[in-house]
Amino acid sequence: MKPVRKAIVPAAGMGTRFLPATKAIPKEMLPIVNKPSIQLIVEEAAASGIEDVILVTGRGKTDIVDHFDAHPSLEDSLRRAGKEALLQEVVRPSKLVRISCVRQQRPLGLGHAILCAQHLIGDEPFAVFLPDDLVDAPRPCARQLMDVWERTGKSVVALMEVPREDVANYGIAAGPRAADDDRIVTIETLIEKPRIDEAPSTLAVVGRYVLDPAIFQHLRHTNPGRGDEIQLTDALARMLGHEGLLGWLFEGERFDAGDVAGYLLANLNWARKQPRLWRTVQAWVAARS
Ligand code: UTP
Repeated sequence: MKPVRKAIVPAAGMGTRFLPATKAIPKEMLPIVNKPSIQLIVEEAAASGIEDVILVTGRGKTDIVDHFDAHPSLEDSLRRAGKEALLQEVVRPSKLVRISCVRQQRPLGLGHAILCAQHLIGDEPFAVFLPDDLVDAPRPCARQLMDVWERTGKSVVALMEVPREDVANYGIAAGPRAADDDRIVTIETLIEKPRIDEAPSTLAVVGRYVLDPAIFQHLRHTNPGRGDEIQLTDALARMLGHEGLLGWLFEGERFDAGDVAGYLLANLNWARKQPRLWRTVQAWVAARS
């Protein structure tokens, strides 16, 4: 079985939930504490063993690519000033993985964004990271999925339980648990953003996938669906009767950083990892409660 070495990070969406902040700044560059959220994603990819990350970007998104490039004049200036720790932080993003970039000329949907990277993936399995979904986990979420791929040779998506009233915000999957591992679901039904009364379960797909390259054929045969966009979920549903699709109930906590409330919570979660900063937050809260 071929190993998973490459990942696609689709980042060409409009970010309308974050306007006006995203009028001129890509939402993936909004910071979680002091790192752009896209850096947390690429750090997860590197920690999972991914070697190549393909960023799918569009108009107004070039800052994302610059963030993962070297910045010789800034690096020289920090070096001359003896600011070694800051220098390491500045250099770090350019050393994590090999970065390539493809453009999606029109935002025709997540499925279409993935098709835009097909020529850089070739005939290999690959991971997909949706940059809105930040996952804080003891073992990187993508690594968990890659382990399932290595054990089973089947495409696998990350799943989590959501409240029934939230099902209309997600792709919802249903199917039996594997006899030997109750975190694995053999997906039999998959519906993009169902109404509450249509939802086959409360198991939501979140933004980590490991996919067989057969998905590209399914994407090519997928017509625009919800929102008139080519939906990845619809192409995944086409895999059910062919190559098959697993779900993995991942270990870890997921934050929707594409939504204002989720973004604030993600900032608090990552602030908590810095004791001095967290004491400042706690003191601020204590003074007001
Ligand atoms: P979303 O629909 O959640 O992201 O797409 P969005 O369009 O940026 O955000 P809102 O809803 O308007 O606030 C999920 C992921 O797919 C990417 C987005 O960048 C996001 O990472 N995407 C979506 C594309 O790359 N291209 C598209 O045409 C659509």
